[in-house]
Amino acid sequence: MINFPPELITYLKKATRVVVLTGAGVSQESGLSTFRDAQSGLWAQYRPEDLATPRAFARDPKLVWDWYAHRRESAKGASPNLGHYALVEMENRISEFTLITQNVDGLHRIAGSKNILELHGNILNVRCSECGMFADNWEDDLESVPRCEKCNALLRPDVVWFEESLPREQLDAAVSATRACQIFFSIGTSGVVQPAAALAHAAKAEGAVVVEVNAEPTPLTARADFAFHGKSGEILPELVKAVWG
Ligand code: OAD
Repeated sequence: MINFPPELITYLKKATRVVVLTGAGVSQESGLSTFRDAQSGLWAQYRPEDLATPRAFARDPKLVWDWYAHRRESAKGASPNLGHYALVEMENRISEFTLITQNVDGLHRIAGSKNILELHGNILNVRCSECGMFADNWEDDLESVPRCEKCNALLRPDVVWFEESLPREQLDAAVSATRACQIFFSIGTSGVVQPAAALAHAAKAEGAVVVEVNAEPTPLTARADFAFHGKSGEILPELVKAVWG
């Protein structure tokens, strides 16, 4: 059992504006790989520049398509864990609650979270690489990448790659919610990818209480007001119980 500091419990009981930023660690207990964990992280096995950039897609679209198709199947096969559900419970208790996620697996929505900003897109969606039209129906074949029904360009996953901009509306909404919040949680993220990583620091600069929940210390830990190191699927349900019973 975790002994949460009484000040944190009081802050949360009174809070009306809370922002939560999540990363791959939140889905780790759902069986999905993180990016930077030393042994099991995706970037320990693959090079991002081979798979997650526009240049990689231009060079070898089939390799990139297949890698995302494989990850899409893993995401579809995964279920939310207790950490995702604890965040739904938190949203139910707090009047202005914003969940900003870097995750593309869609598990927060499946769990029941509502006010979600998906900063890096959603791997379950596919769109045209040229005209941007979303595709619901495509034939996967062994040889080639499926093409857009409208303009015949290649389809791609609706995720943000390195060197690409984040969706403007989602980012603006994330920044506004961050500036206005009283408590900012950074959960299951290594906090090294911008601009998401800057949000916790922006919240702190505006006077918010910053709370980290992560398997291990991160560059944010020293600046956080409270830091809990362990599994989010264990810490978050305990925290929700400690605050709201
Ligand atoms: P990372 O893999 O960089 O970080 C995941 C963090 O979660 C690490 O600090 C782990 O220690 C921690 N962690 C692992 N298991 C956990 C658990 N059960 N409970 C709590 N924490 C746990 O993933 P992100 O920070 O999400 O971007 O990575 C940010 C972005 O980098 C991703 O969205 C992706 C990647 O490249 C794009 O693809 C654009």
